[in-house]
Amino acid sequence: MSDEQYREKMEEAVKSFSEDTEFAPDVWKAFASGLFYVAGDIGDPGLYQRICAKLAEIEKTRNTGGNVLFYLSTQPSQYAAVAAGIGTAGMGQGNGWRRLVVEKPFGHDLASARALSDELHKVFSETNVYRIDHYLGKETVQNILAFRFGNGIFEPLWNRRYVNHVQITAAESIGVEGRGAYYQEAGALADMIQNHLLQVMATIAMEPSASFRADSVRDERSKLLRSIHPMTPDEIRANTAPGQYGPARIGGAEVPGFRQEPGVNPNSPTDTYAAVTFFVENWRWAGVPFYLRSGKRLPKRVTEIAIQFNPAPLTIFGGNSDDTAPNLLIVRIQPEEGISLKFLSKRPGTGMKLRPVSMDFNYGSSFGERSPSAYETLLLDALTGDATLYTRQDMVEASWTVVEPIQNVWRETKYSLPNYAAGTWGPSAAEMMLAMRGHVWRKP
Ligand code: BG6
Repeated sequence: MSDEQYREKMEEAVKSFSEDTEFAPDVWKAFASGLFYVAGDIGDPGLYQRICAKLAEIEKTRNTGGNVLFYLSTQPSQYAAVAAGIGTAGMGQGNGWRRLVVEKPFGHDLASARALSDELHKVFSETNVYRIDHYLGKETVQNILAFRFGNGIFEPLWNRRYVNHVQITAAESIGVEGRGAYYQEAGALADMIQNHLLQVMATIAMEPSASFRADSVRDERSKLLRSIHPMTPDEIRANTAPGQYGPARIGGAEVPGFRQEPGVNPNSPTDTYAAVTFFVENWRWAGVPFYLRSGKRLPKRVTEIAIQFNPAPLTIFGGNSDDTAPNLLIVRIQPEEGISLKFLSKRPGTGMKLRPVSMDFNYGSSFGERSPSAYETLLLDALTGDATLYTRQDMVEASWTVVEPIQNVWRETKYSLPNYAAGTWGPSAAEMMLAMRGHVWRKP
């Protein structure tokens, strides 16, 4: 493409995707004059020379001060090669700052994640490597910190004494949507739990940080991840459940199973569903199960955290089963973003019958404005050098440390797959995983 063709393509994209402002031709024109297109082959050193020359020209004409943010939307297997190309062409340093943004997956196990960091560090120091985990950029995930540390009343309850267990669910109704080839290499455990859900868990369970500076918050998240108990193979067999969806008929339409999706091997053992029980070995959380689950082709799209509190010590109102419904705090990450507290209340009328009711906060009605999307937040943060919501090397390594042993056991075990029908809540083994501790998954 020429610069002009590229600008036209971007104009179309901005027109169709910008959500809350009218397209302003003048603003666009000024912005678009700063867009340039350089094409080439990642393995060709000449490409990096051309980018370098272009950046030098832009630095003068557009007064960038030499600041450059490299955002790699390449295949993860090419990150090291691109970083090396940037380094060889001398672009890792300049008159201004130089930062590198990479997407997940960051490695496919502990050793490969470590090796990739080593490669990137040859050109960019760790403070300039920004590993995106878009869940951390979601308003609702950021709000967990505000909720926990901006209020005085919740933190005293936030521990093993009052919390019975925590459920973190990321359910999707879609299948692999044309990403079959990528997905069958990754699977739900590596695609969602290793990164997004463990980061959410770290945000829910971390200790208060001394300040809101990037490294204070990241130190606490990292410490929490490093406190998760890495399981033995026997523990893994009892405390995890992989799943894969099979074909089904939903609302009159035939839905293919994972193995029938385009690009997927018809015998693929890949997990499209993963459920794991984690335990945190610290004084706050010892003995409290954290149940994480994520899957494709579940009945609906919903991501939420449910914190279940211990029941009242004594039931004085009679034997109705509703009377014993536990207090639940539900943080709805998406959709219908908000927070609900469920508690028991007297049913109107004679007699003392209790029923669970809900106190609700909804983003939409409380703030009446659109929340920025995770990527808007994260890319702006990278431009201003705020790494609070980015994943640091020690955090990635800590999560691989607990996920890799699970991957290994899953790989070695012959599970009978598929084990759940598209459109259902996952395999029965995931129900059993909770039942053995007397718990049940919440139906969101
Ligand atoms: C991505 C995964 O990181 O997150 C996808 O690779 C998944 O498989 C997506 O669909 C979910 O993101 P969100 O923001 O829609 O919950």
